[in-house]
Amino acid sequence: MKQKKQLYEGKAKVIFDGPESNTLVQYFKDDATAFNAQKKDVITGKGILNNYISEHMMLAVSKLGIPNHFINRINDREQLVRKLEIIPVEVVVRNVAAGSICARLGLEEGFMLKNTLVEFCLKDDSLGDPIIAPEHIFTFGWANPNELKIIVENTLRINDFLTGLFLGIGIRLIDFKLEFGRHENDGKVEIMLADEISPDNCRLWDAETKEKMDKDRFRRDLGGLIEAYQEIARRLGIKIPEVS
Ligand code: ADP
Ligand code: TMP
Ligand code: ASP
Repeated sequence: MKQKKQLYEGKAKVIFDGPESNTLVQYFKDDATAFNAQKKDVITGKGILNNYISEHMMLAVSKLGIPNHFINRINDREQLVRKLEIIPVEVVVRNVAAGSICARLGLEEGFMLKNTLVEFCLKDDSLGDPIIAPEHIFTFGWANPNELKIIVENTLRINDFLTGLFLGIGIRLIDFKLEFGRHENDGKVEIMLADEISPDNCRLWDAETKEKMDKDRFRRDLGGLIEAYQEIARRLGIKIPEVS
């Protein structure tokens, strides 16, 4: 079999060349990192869970009519995606205060935000992913106003949809992070959702017990990360193979 060419190794995934020139393969690793990779561990089975959960979320987003990079899941750890030119901006959506906004603005964790907040961070680990304004995005040419409008509209629709989806299975969607990119097809450029939607880049709390069911279990040394991700998959009706 032809060996796939590795293009990039990130903190949670490895990216390989896909079978066609405009495709890539995302391989989900078991590596867990936090605080710009200052904290690291390997959590056996995390990659498989995120691959299946992200597949489920991307297929749901497709049904909403929001363009995204997902083509199909290849196996337990890999998925075929469209190759995008990634916009180096992390789009963070917050419904409830948690994580970095608490320290930044002196808020209590769990404070219900009056409105959904959309924040932007520059995707640059060496700078610590600093928070930026739309004006920075335009000034430095990371995206133009029309592209950012599409990104924010799609992000808010995904938030509404995911909030309902998770509430239906007894989970509160506290916040999450999305990435977008440009896909070129026949000279036409389309903005698409990229990367993954999984408990690695969402905060998810059990609606009754308030238990954390996301990567904060690792960030805060709470243990039980795999059990929490498995419980999310179970409630979503996703069948996950034995962890290996
Ligand atoms: P990081 O780079 O932040 O450590 P990961 O380990 O998750 O993150 O690596 C996945 C990388 O692949 C990310 O840098 C992400 O921006 C990029 N990526 C995700 N989807 C696509 C895509 N469809 N086309 C090109 N790059 C992508
Ligand atoms: P934060 O509170 O640390 O800023 O994180 C907000 C949300 O974004 C949370 O759900 C975790 C997610 N996130 C990522 O997926 N990657 C990142 O690099 C960071 C900083 C946050
Ligand atoms: N993804 C970032 C890191 O790996 C931050 C985080 O998720 O907490 O360091």
